[in-house]
Amino acid sequence: MITRNNRMARQWLVLCVVALALSLPSTLWAQMRMPDPVQQDKLELGKKVYFKRCVWCHGVEGAGDGPSADRLFTRPRNFTQGTFKIRVTDSGELPLDENLIDTVKNGLPGSAMPAWGEFLSKEEIKSVVQFVKTLVQDRDFSDEDEELAVMDFGKNPWGTSEPYHLGVPEEDIAAGKEIMIKNKCFECHGGEGRGDGNPTMKDDWGFEIMAADWQQCWNFRGSRRNHYDPFNIVRAISTGLNGTPMPNFREKITVEDRWKLAAFVNSLCPRKKIDRLANKPINDFLIKSKYTVGPVTSDWNDPMWQAPEDDPRAKSRPSGYTDIEGGGDQYWHYIALAGQIVRGERNFKPKVDNLWVMSRWSEEEQAVYYLVEYHNRFLSNDPEYPEGVAIQWPGQLEELFGAEKPYFIFGDSKKPVDIWKASFLPKNYDTTNAPNPDGYDLDISITELIGNGFEDVFEKDTPGGVQIVNSKYVQGRVKIMFRRSLTTENPDKTDVQIPVKGFVPVSFMEWSGFNKEHDEYMAISTWVYTILEPPLPASLIYMPPIVGSIFFGFQMWLIWMTKRTRKMVDDKTWK
Ligand code: HEC
Ligand code: HEC
Repeated sequence: MITRNNRMARQWLVLCVVALALSLPSTLWAQMRMPDPVQQDKLELGKKVYFKRCVWCHGVEGAGDGPSADRLFTRPRNFTQGTFKIRVTDSGELPLDENLIDTVKNGLPGSAMPAWGEFLSKEEIKSVVQFVKTLVQDRDFSDEDEELAVMDFGKNPWGTSEPYHLGVPEEDIAAGKEIMIKNKCFECHGGEGRGDGNPTMKDDWGFEIMAADWQQCWNFRGSRRNHYDPFNIVRAISTGLNGTPMPNFREKITVEDRWKLAAFVNSLCPRKKIDRLANKPINDFLIKSKYTVGPVTSDWNDPMWQAPEDDPRAKSRPSGYTDIEGGGDQYWHYIALAGQIVRGERNFKPKVDNLWVMSRWSEEEQAVYYLVEYHNRFLSNDPEYPEGVAIQWPGQLEELFGAEKPYFIFGDSKKPVDIWKASFLPKNYDTTNAPNPDGYDLDISITELIGNGFEDVFEKDTPGGVQIVNSKYVQGRVKIMFRRSLTTENPDKTDVQIPVKGFVPVSFMEWSGFNKEHDEYMAISTWVYTILEPPLPASLIYMPPIVGSIFFGFQMWLIWMTKRTRKMVDDKTWK
């Protein structure tokens, strides 16, 4: 018995030593393991799916050179080197199967890579991932030297939850900001995180690449359709993105600090409802123009132009907010933009894919103001390719029936459009300037155009008096404020006459000169509506009860009168 016990003890000891030895290469930060080998039995289905769905972008041999590839930014991935961005493994290493499955299922937002979870079954996704692994030529998923370090990311210390992950203490977010500054993330991501730090970066395949815009987290490749989850950021900082200049900070930043840094980055992204299919915020279809009794100021730092949403941590707007004069009652409307593909090159993908709009109107001035804002990492210096943004209106609103609208680009011969186009170049600006916290003034001019269709857009003889009352480019963000009187002389009958209270169709266009966008190479929105909110004097709130009681009184009086009359009649008849 004793010998047997001894032997068991010795076996235990050996086992422990072996276990210890095995765990030696693994340190606290990671667990070592082999890559998942290719599952041969899935290749037949995988190949079928690949040649039906993926080949158009990724190419016959997976070299990222399918027929659509040249028109896309970022380009489809070349699989041959085995370089994958979104992983839980260390920099330079191969991914796990589950990472690729997650990618194929959820897509890579901000790029053309679709979320296939909507179109393919689980089995098809698993299989096509196996096939993609066979397209990797330079490396081998079965090679013993391909050992992987699966990272330890710690755990969300605040236990925040979907969809918005709010409720991280302010001091942790502030600490995160310090960590960001210490690690110089701004050198690539810009002073306010809009990705405007470095215009000269290239990826491993020699193509131009931009740092992520932290204020548009729905475009993070690794957002996994849980766009506000700080884990996605922790993963990116821990593993880096293979094939890109985005390094890992595993050794420089402790796991605890990575979570705080992630909370800071995450706090910059406005909380919007995200459309699951498009992986983008849902359009705000109605732009409300706030009523102002006196004049409207063009100073956008004035409370008149502040929205509670400016603080992305604000959960929602305070309910019952009726302080019209005091300001802070504004709202940033999100307007999605897409590449114009009706004319010219199909599949044209513009650099700017959304803008934000805020509006006020003044009763005293009988004028309306639209503040348009959008992110663009770098601007043009070239007078031949100025930057541009325009607001488009129906030229003859009164002639439109019901929900009728002009053709969405430049109108048509029956329904002309009124276009207010601002063209500009930043002053004393160079893309390689260090991000300048004071920003740049714009050399800006306004043109008023009439559009009767694509071939027929011309400048008005008598402009309607649209003004640019303020404009600036600061830290990757363009801000332009338009102003016009509600009504104009309207000699050509094509200036929009803006009514109080009515719904007016409006749309937006944008040209990124830095990317040589011009004419039909532009970003456009669909028609949305704008409405000038009517004055809402405090007395209105008390009106219904007063009206109610008057009405009640009137009825009582009627009854009383009827009775009295009847009585009188009765009296007369019978007496
Ligand atoms: C419309 C074009 C398009 C189609 C179709 C497409 N992809 Fe992609 N795919 C891309 C682009 C673009 C990227 C690179 C995005 C980036 O690098 O930011 C990409 C990247 C990838 C990656 C790399 C992920 C990583 O972490 O780096 C994988 C894997 C992938 N695609 C798999 C697939 C599979 C599987 C299919 C078919 C079911 C498919 N793709 C179809 C455009 C496409
Ligand atoms: C050398 C330049 C550089 C530095 C420094 C840098 N980044 Fe990045 N980062 C990039 C680039 C480039 C991308 C975009 C890669 C792409 O589009 O695939 C990126 C992407 C990201 C993303 C998006 C990840 C995703 O899923 O798409 C996050 C988050 C991020 N970086 C955070 C940080 C933080 C935090 C720091 C500082 C600790 C930092 N980066 C430092 C270049 C940099």
